[in-house]
Amino acid sequence: TILVLDFGSQYTHLITRRLRELNVYSEMLPCTQKLADLTWKPKGVILSGGPYSVYASDAPHVDPEVFNLDVPILGICYGLQELAWHFGKNVLAGEKREYGRAALNIHPRNGQEAHVSRLFEGLPDDMDVWMSHGDKLSRLPDDFITIATSANSPYAAIAHESKEYYGVQFHPEVTHTPKGTQVIRNFAVSICKARQNWTMEAFRDKEVERIRKLVGPKGQVIGAVSGGVDSTVAAKLMHEAIGDRFHAVMVDNGVLRKDEAKQVKQTLTKNLGVNLTVVDASERFLSLLKGVEDPEKKRKIIGNTFIEIFEEEAKKIAKEAENTPRAGNIEYFLQGTLYPDVIESISFKGPSATIKTHHNVGGLPEKMNLKLIEPLRELFKDEVRAIGTELGIAEELVWRHPFPGPGLAIRIIGEVTPEKVRIVQEADAIFMEELKAGKTKDGTSLYRDISQAFAALFVDKAVGVVGDQRLHGYVIALRAVKTTDFMTAKAYWFDEEFASRVSDRIGNEVQGVARVVYEWTSKPPATIELE
Ligand code: XMP
Repeated sequence: TILVLDFGSQYTHLITRRLRELNVYSEMLPCTQKLADLTWKPKGVILSGGPYSVYASDAPHVDPEVFNLDVPILGICYGLQELAWHFGKNVLAGEKREYGRAALNIHPRNGQEAHVSRLFEGLPDDMDVWMSHGDKLSRLPDDFITIATSANSPYAAIAHESKEYYGVQFHPEVTHTPKGTQVIRNFAVSICKARQNWTMEAFRDKEVERIRKLVGPKGQVIGAVSGGVDSTVAAKLMHEAIGDRFHAVMVDNGVLRKDEAKQVKQTLTKNLGVNLTVVDASERFLSLLKGVEDPEKKRKIIGNTFIEIFEEEAKKIAKEAENTPRAGNIEYFLQGTLYPDVIESISFKGPSATIKTHHNVGGLPEKMNLKLIEPLRELFKDEVRAIGTELGIAEELVWRHPFPGPGLAIRIIGEVTPEKVRIVQEADAIFMEELKAGKTKDGTSLYRDISQAFAALFVDKAVGVVGDQRLHGYVIALRAVKTTDFMTAKAYWFDEEFASRVSDRIGNEVQGVARVVYEWTSKPPATIELE
């Protein structure tokens, strides 16, 4: 195990992610962790970056016992400065912040013999790295040598080779340091000799164990599921851990995709064995949405009503749970939060180390006085998919495109009516069917090649013709984008045959549609959803 001590950098979790990619197990703990309280001995320690200055009077510092563990240490950014501070208090404010790409030279010849450190084995003499720091070393700590330089950082990397202490000013954990994983591999695998036996299967087992301990032998957990991959994987993990003491609730808000509630029920109950209650509240939602055109209002109505219904349902379930002889109270609320959602909330937050969570379903857990349980909080989407596959969840669900909480309400411009919902649902179902059947040139399904696709409904009606009749019908907009992070996206290009087939089918099969258009805007300037 590699111990990652977190000083609050937004990148700390990327360190654990890189280690996982190397199949190396790591534990991330706040930098203030007392080593005497650890029940295990790490093979090596990584000190993360952080937003502080080591010389400030309230700066966080590691337990000095870390230097008595007699294991290799890698300090990254603030971590390097923490090392230097420990060995000589020689860190200063830099004249200017260094932020961005820098060229690292790993053959420094500033008065020393050229020497390639074990930390940089297998790497080219010059490589791009990502810097983000204000402070710098004033001089080398005793017995340390410089193992890399950059134009702005004479001490871009330092080492005490016999103690196996290393410090790098740059961030090897971010993708802007293209060969950074090799640096982490050299440290964890070659220098610390950590075993590379950590897999998603191991993650699952450990998480199941952790959940069991946390919840206890009688505790019960409630959680909302949507049919998306995150909540499904989270629900399945809970089920593995505590079986029927986990209660999943799905609220049908009337603006789901076609047959979605049915499919979710089938997957969760029949295939995965999860204890699920589906609440059909579509009429309640649709009547509240009547006459509402403003997208933010629609979002609010759906969000608030969801909370109301979930609370009502949770109370019922809690009452029933109390009456079962083996069960205790519902104490926890499950949330399928992923790492990118919580970057802010998990890091170490200053010397008073408060760990808070800000990202949850409309403050539901606080309101209901429930504690949060978030089994996926350390993971990225691709890792959740890997676990989903590991847990036996169908491929179709594991690779499902994201679907927004407010559902089709933000894919229907203006007022939402039952008729418009039906039209979008049907058009969308045809589009999805064709995307799943269609193939790219190299044989992957179009659905998999695309990050997110859907049918939506434009605001105005247009004229068309059905048989001999003129029809004043709706305008369906199809949208498909490719993206890695959903922050920017490119519109997807279909070939003529595919585009015509989808358009013809929607025109012919969905009653009330006069035209089908393809919405071909990238993000920016557009967003992915229409509203
Ligand atoms: P935009 O439209 O902002 O979408 O480019 C980016 C991603 O976020 C999803 N999205 C939402 N998800 N509630 C959600 O749960 C929302 O209000 C919401 N708005 C957008 C969208 O589907 C896309 O994946």
